[in-house]
Amino acid sequence: RAALARRVDALMRTVPDFPEPGIQFRDIMPLLADADAFAAVVDAFAAAVPEPVDLVAGMEARGFLLAAPVATALGAGVVPVRKAGKLPGPVASQSYALEYGTAAVEVQPFTIPDGARVLVIDDVLATGGTAAATVRLLEECGADVVGLSFLVELEALAGRAQLEGHRVDALLAL
Ligand code: PRP
Ligand code: MG
Repeated sequence: RAALARRVDALMRTVPDFPEPGIQFRDIMPLLADADAFAAVVDAFAAAVPEPVDLVAGMEARGFLLAAPVATALGAGVVPVRKAGKLPGPVASQSYALEYGTAAVEVQPFTIPDGARVLVIDDVLATGGTAAATVRLLEECGADVVGLSFLVELEALAGRAQLEGHRVDALLAL
């Protein structure tokens, strides 16, 4: 796992001032394009889950790319957590604060059976706003959120503090 974390680190690009000045963008695309590294990452996500899961929820857009293969590896289904306005209703919605303004995440609640054990996956844990809103959203739909897994955690932004009470796993901490 430590060797894989180093490999992930080497394959990721850090792009300064994208998409806005002052933001250091963590670009996982070269990792996804490396067949061996991508497969190893999917295996590591699946191996890190200590209990059975029914569904894997991935956040639009980059979370989708990880959630789907991990779900098939675990024998679970997928719940796409989409940005507002993308899913036909009925939808459940949770808004969260951005640096300027608000955003919202949505799911179709009829795809989540009551008490379903749901693993949440995204590429990057930054401020934790997206992940915390996703947890609130899934719990409001009756899900049992059994953990959250990220490829990369940006520790300085303290996103983990927003996810207290949940198992949070990150392959690489930066
Ligand atoms: C990025 C990243 C996470 C989120 C983390 O997604 O993929 O989903 O930000 O930030 P936070 O912890 O501060 O909420 P982004 O909204 O840039 O969109 P994308 O995945 O569609 O590229
Ligand atoms: Mg994202």
